[in-house]
Amino acid sequence: MHPKYFIQMNLKTSENQVFSAHIISWYRANPRDLPWRGTADPYRIWLSEIILQQTRVTQGLPYYYAFSDAYPTVRELALAPETEVLRLWQGLGYYSRARNLHACAKYIWHELGGNFPNTYQSLLLLKGVGSYTAAAISSFAFGEAKAVVDGNVFRVLARYFGIATDIASGKAKKEFEALANELIPKDNPGEFNQAMMDFGSRQCTPQNPDCESCPLKSSCFAFQNDLIKELPVKINKTKVKERDFHYFVIRCGEDWVWKKRTAGDIWEGLHDFPQSEKAPVSISKISEAEPSPFPKKYRHILSHQKLNASFSELQIPIERYPDLAEWCENEGYMLVAEKEIEYLAKPKLIVNFLNDQGI
Ligand code: ADE
Repeated sequence: MHPKYFIQMNLKTSENQVFSAHIISWYRANPRDLPWRGTADPYRIWLSEIILQQTRVTQGLPYYYAFSDAYPTVRELALAPETEVLRLWQGLGYYSRARNLHACAKYIWHELGGNFPNTYQSLLLLKGVGSYTAAAISSFAFGEAKAVVDGNVFRVLARYFGIATDIASGKAKKEFEALANELIPKDNPGEFNQAMMDFGSRQCTPQNPDCESCPLKSSCFAFQNDLIKELPVKINKTKVKERDFHYFVIRCGEDWVWKKRTAGDIWEGLHDFPQSEKAPVSISKISEAEPSPFPKKYRHILSHQKLNASFSELQIPIERYPDLAEWCENEGYMLVAEKEIEYLAKPKLIVNFLNDQGI
């Protein structure tokens, strides 16, 4: 049974200031040199924030460099072909981010005359920009006092103020946003937001936070009441779906049969192979006609899906399938020469499989 927590909302201004001052001084004492800090360019900040959605800083950094080198301003990104943008995004996952990034750049360049939206409300109208990203961009680039709220911020606030709201519940976001917006100093919102992000990810960590070294420990509700492990409260309801992906890796001479994935499922716009989710494993007259190969098996875990993938490889003789190109076209597949494969945007699972084949 949970102990009774209390909720300390509507704090007095001086208490808000103490919290904010502690967080900001912790941040100044624990600086991190990140390339998107110290710029007020909304394009660069937006790029970094989209990359950092569901992604750790160390994983996102090389992508930030690659994107800002390839597309130094919104103009270059807007004018780039989508396949190139997706290829540069390869390995980062959640590919709708890359598609939205590109769509927004085109919109800003062609519809807004290249002028980046400069308020929280107008940023929210961009595809892929939710309240967190709009708050980050508007506070860092334009000094607007909007607080970022994500899992890190939930944790810091739930522990420090002793808030027992289930952070997976619908009302949590509103409640924590209201509190964070009370706490954010109007004269220094950007630094406060950066500080909250870093404090949450580096000091007030989910597991085993180093509370002894924390400058907030004397006023932290969870620390004072020995509730660090209990807070924040999260009642997990996410259902993970298991799927079987039977892939056919069909090769004919130097060519491979590929499929561009369509809308309405994972990995839209990326490339993989002809595939079936049903056993028995056969998707075409080719796979029926050829001897059944031993499939290679992989397990691949996404945020809401577990994939049991098997790859059956078929090397087919050109003489037996002179109409292969026509068949591919009819089936919605594409023939790709082996040396061109590296330029296709592919999900991580497929890259792993290819790497194991030495491709
Ligand atoms: N996570 C999301 N945005 C971030 C930022 N600007 N700095 C560090 N981590 C982040």
